[in-house]
Parts: sequence; structure tokens; C-alpha cells
Amino acid sequence: MLLHIDKVSKTYRRKSGDVCALQDVSLDLDAGEFVAVRGPSGCGKSTLLMTTGGLLGPDSGQILFNGKNPYELSPHARAEFRGRSIGFVFQQFHLVPYLDVLDNVLAPSLAVASTSNGVRDRAHDLVKHFGLMKRSHHVPAELSSGERQRTALARALLNEPQLLLADEPTGNLDGKSADTVLSHLQEFAENGGAVLLVTHDERAVPFADRVIHLCEGRIESNGS
Ligand SMILES: Nc1ncnc2c1ncn2[C@@H]1O[C@H](COP(=O)(O)OP(=O)(O)OP(=O)(O)O)[C@@H](O)[C@H]1O
Ligand SMILES: [Mg+2]
Repeated sequence: MLLHIDKVSKTYRRKSGDVCALQDVSLDLDAGEFVAVRGPSGCGKSTLLMTTGGLLGPDSGQILFNGKNPYELSPHARAEFRGRSIGFVFQQFHLVPYLDVLDNVLAPSLAVASTSNGVRDRAHDLVKHFGLMKRSHHVPAELSSGERQRTALARALLNEPQLLLADEPTGNLDGKSADTVLSHLQEFAENGGAVLLVTHDERAVPFADRVIHLCEGRIESNGS
């Protein structure tokens, strides 16, 4: 099992009151699987992704990635694990505004090791694969939303992660661009990667192997 999420709970504690964002959430994900978690705004989707991605420790329960708990690592080792094993894609793209497409795709290599020719070749191949060759020297402001998200997806894949975590990746896209992004996620899973996508968008359903419903921090239905 690549990812084992076991009875994870998370409460945000604020002076104004506690917000229980996740309650006893359990979910398994194997290599080659594409799972979509659907639910309304505020149901805990982003919290689930951050917790899964080693960015936010749960209050109880545990996350195991290849049998190991990332929260037992030092912050430095955990950051390295994230850079090596997990790719993130967000609704707002989070590209570096002053880097062109190619350098945005290359950005994660800076955190892992020196940027070898092999990594440059891979970035080039990804830019090509995502249909961005003609835009490779454009900065994000000079791209359409669909092109920005494909750049973000190429960046997420640079270090050959085992798991892609996608938070509402089609939220800012038109129907056609959304389908393109979703089919790239599907392709990643078909090639042996794992995808955990959270969204309220039902468009993702036909692309996923399984759809799970999250409501007020709890899983309502599992499977389908
Ligand atoms: N840093 C925080 N501090 C306090 N409460 C928070 C914090 N982040 C999220 N919350 C609350 O936790 C709950 C779950 O938030 P989360 O962002 O995970 O929901 P979501 O399903 O991703 O929503 P959306 O679809 O709008 O992105 C919400 O009620 C939210 O208000
Ligand atoms: Mg969210």
C-alpha cells in the first residue's frame, strides 16, 4: 500500500472557537490508483491534502507512506521526502511569476540536487508532453489558465513523484482545459503513479477509479 490514512482527525484551535476539519478519516491508496474526494466548501478537503502531504500534522490517527510516518521525520527530512515523493497541484497554480515555463518546471530540481543535464532534458520532455513548447519562454502572465495549470502539472512531475496531490486543479479552468488536466492525471495513474484529487467539481468523477464523499470532515461513502 502506497498511502495509508488511518483514522486521521484534525481540529484548528482558535480563540474564537475550535473548528473540527477532519474526523476519523481513513483512506487507502495504491500505486496506479486515481481517487477523487468530493465535498462542499469547508468540508475539510484542503486540510486532508495538507495532512496527507506532510504539511500539517494530524491531532490523532496516522498517515503512512510506503509504511513510514512522515511526521516522525525531522522537518528537514520531511521536506526532502515531500520534494522527492509527492507532487502538488493547486487551483491557483502557484507558479513563480518571473520565471518562464521551462524554469518553472525546473524549479523543484533546485530543492533536491544540482540541476543536471538529465533533469533539464526531463523538464524539456515534460514541456513538450504538455503541449507547451511554443510557450516555454513565456512567463505565467503571458499564458492562458489551462497553460498555467499544465505548467504546474509538469512541475509537479519533474522529480518523478509516486503520489500527486491535487487541490481543486480544475477550479479556474474552462471545460476543455479541465478535461485535459484530468486526463493527464489519469495518465499519470495509468503509468503507475497515485493520484489523490479533492474537488467539488463532478467533472472529475469519470476520470477517477474511486470517488469518496467528504462531509463536515467525515467520509460519507467509500468506493463506487
Ligand atoms: N488555518 C485555519 N484555521 C482555522 N480554521 C481553518 C483553517 N483552515 C481551514 N479552517 C476551517 O476548517 C474547515 C475545513 O477547511 P478546508 O480548507 O479544509 O475546507 P475545503 O473543503 O478545502 O474548502 P474549499 O472547498 O472552500 O476549499 C473549514 O470550516 C475552515 O473554515
Ligand atoms: Mg480547499
